[in-house]
Amino acid sequence: MKPGSSVTVRPAKHLHGALRLPGDKSISHRYAMLAAIAEGKSRFENYSTGADCASTLACLGSLGVHWERTNNGANVIEIEGRGPALAAPTSALDCGNSGSTMRMLSGILAGQEFTSDLCGDESLSRRPMARIMKPLEQMGARITAAPEERPPLHIAGGNLRAIRYKMPVASAQVKSCLLFAGLFAKGETEVEEPLRTRDHGEVALRAFGADLKRSANSTCIVGGQRLHAIEARIPGDLSSAAFFFCAASLFPGSELVIDSLLMNPTRARLLDILIGLGVRISITQLEEQNGELVGTVRVEGAQLKSTEIAGADSAALIDEIPVLAAIAPFTEEGIRIRDAGELRVKESDRIQSIVTNLRAMGARVDEHDDGLTVPGGQKLHGAEINSAGDHRIAMAFAIAALRAEGETHIRGAEAAVISFPSFFETLESLVQR
Ligand code: S3P
Repeated sequence: MKPGSSVTVRPAKHLHGALRLPGDKSISHRYAMLAAIAEGKSRFENYSTGADCASTLACLGSLGVHWERTNNGANVIEIEGRGPALAAPTSALDCGNSGSTMRMLSGILAGQEFTSDLCGDESLSRRPMARIMKPLEQMGARITAAPEERPPLHIAGGNLRAIRYKMPVASAQVKSCLLFAGLFAKGETEVEEPLRTRDHGEVALRAFGADLKRSANSTCIVGGQRLHAIEARIPGDLSSAAFFFCAASLFPGSELVIDSLLMNPTRARLLDILIGLGVRISITQLEEQNGELVGTVRVEGAQLKSTEIAGADSAALIDEIPVLAAIAPFTEEGIRIRDAGELRVKESDRIQSIVTNLRAMGARVDEHDDGLTVPGGQKLHGAEINSAGDHRIAMAFAIAALRAEGETHIRGAEAAVISFPSFFETLESLVQR
């Protein structure tokens, strides 16, 4: 799809199907970065098809890491690890739209004996980087950025010392960044988080052979440990599955099964929320793969009740709130979302994007600094949706469009390529009209 593309979504009656999804974005980034600094050749099946994870691979290539796609169909990637020392890049590392690439790779670059520059697209250039700069500077890295600590970043790395760091913001990207930097630091680095966020960094570090100490909200890593290559199949992306689960939930009589899906408990809160809304969900074939829980999920649609998302739930559901908000008008009594101010500093100001687009479809919605309240029992009409260049907004409103009256045009639909290039085709294959 070309920039500015518009996709038309028509109302649906049901969703039916059984499918498997491309690999999880959060895990794909981390596996690629750790494989680059491990010893030996790693091989990943079902690597994320999204542009963000391709940005990570491109940056690694510029850092002297040899990688190749050995089988396009199955998205197999092989990465030749260099051990801890990467090669100095000859130009700026382009992270595209990917906050994960910029923030987590910075942790590794802070440990390298060279200087590097990281840049990104217009959206990434607006996103806050102080959250990684401050702790990495405390560890001894020298970092400069554009005003207000925005990208591009210039990092002079090397000679890191361990720190004990209490993160002010709940962010798994920051946590992984600091644990990766901790691998290069002298001594034991401890990262404490205000709430437990997704733990793929910790799980992946262990899979690559690192020794970590974990307690409720903190993780310790001793520097100087060597990582070893792994072979893995990356489980399906649960945040991509969220769109289809919410779509199926909207239509009583729908039934959707997704197998080989990531079931990590720090990511699966959406399933509890849907159960609370009245959706029937069953999980089978649970097994652990490289420390990550994987399973098969069956979802059956229902008349949805209401719910409130606040506190730790808002952090746990940060990527799923756009689609939950988009289906909220169709619940009986609505959905209220608070403590989700982080949504304002994502690929777009997601609170604003959700409110604007819900209103365009004729919905009543109240905007708060840290969330929104969407009353239930509403009827929406098709409209022009503006994705604001944000993949999760484009996909969330394609789901709302299934229950609206008339056609909805999603402008900037190509943004879906960031995490899920085949989203619209997959959705069409599930929908019955
Ligand atoms: C991610 C963490 C979240 C999430 C992002 C991926 C990760 O961001 O929104 O899509 O892989 O660690 P924050 O850590 O900034 O909340």
